[in-house]
Amino acid sequence: MAKLGGNIDHVATIGQARDGNEPDPVAAAAIAELAGADGITIHLREDRRHIQDRDLKILRQVVKTKLNLEMAATDEMVEIALAVKPDMCTLVPEKRQELTTEGGLDVRMHAQSIEKAIARLHDGGILTSLFIDPDSDQIKAANKIGADYVEIHTGSFADAVDWKTEEQELIKIENAIKLSTKLGLGVNAGHGLTYTNIKKVAALGGVEEYNIGHSIISKAVLVGLDRAVRDMVELIKYA
Ligand code: PXP
Repeated sequence: MAKLGGNIDHVATIGQARDGNEPDPVAAAAIAELAGADGITIHLREDRRHIQDRDLKILRQVVKTKLNLEMAATDEMVEIALAVKPDMCTLVPEKRQELTTEGGLDVRMHAQSIEKAIARLHDGGILTSLFIDPDSDQIKAANKIGADYVEIHTGSFADAVDWKTEEQELIKIENAIKLSTKLGLGVNAGHGLTYTNIKKVAALGGVEEYNIGHSIISKAVLVGLDRAVRDMVELIKYA
């Protein structure tokens, strides 16, 4: 059965809008695990825009399922990963100006540096995954340089503006799952998946874990708002 990796970056995003004290991503991870998430994913960005080094260190102690660290394939990040030892590192491209991770890694173009990062992480006993577009050349390149998993970027499928484009993007994802599996790579998928579009991707089968963040945190804000307002009204009225 496919698994859910809960990405809690956006809990930290809300915190960073103020002083970073609340909501605590560590508390969010515990709730996500209690609700059945099979793993927790966080992205420690070079600019520390949301998740902080402190979050990573505490989450390593608290997460009981699987901790997946998304990061750029830089020396700084590899050093941090080797010190903290998440269960898996998912290497992603990173540009400071982007809103979120836009596009998959170009494994062919950056094969040398990514291969070096994979080898160092393997020496530290950490599984590796490469976040790539559903593209056969990228999948073959990921396999060649020793990645354990690929995470197939579902963003173009999620952003499709008409049913025909959506169908074409879904076929690309299906072919990517098949090729990755044939080569012996583990297959994860994520980016832009929602309560609506997950059904079509999940129906393809062959994916071990879906990494989903924004849609879950968005829903949490809305389904939790009623209770949160009632609690505050109660405090004010009956103080
Ligand atoms: N997978 C990767 C590699 C990502 O960078 C992200 C976004 O942080 C996700 C999955 C989750 O995407 P979303 O927040 O759109 O569910």
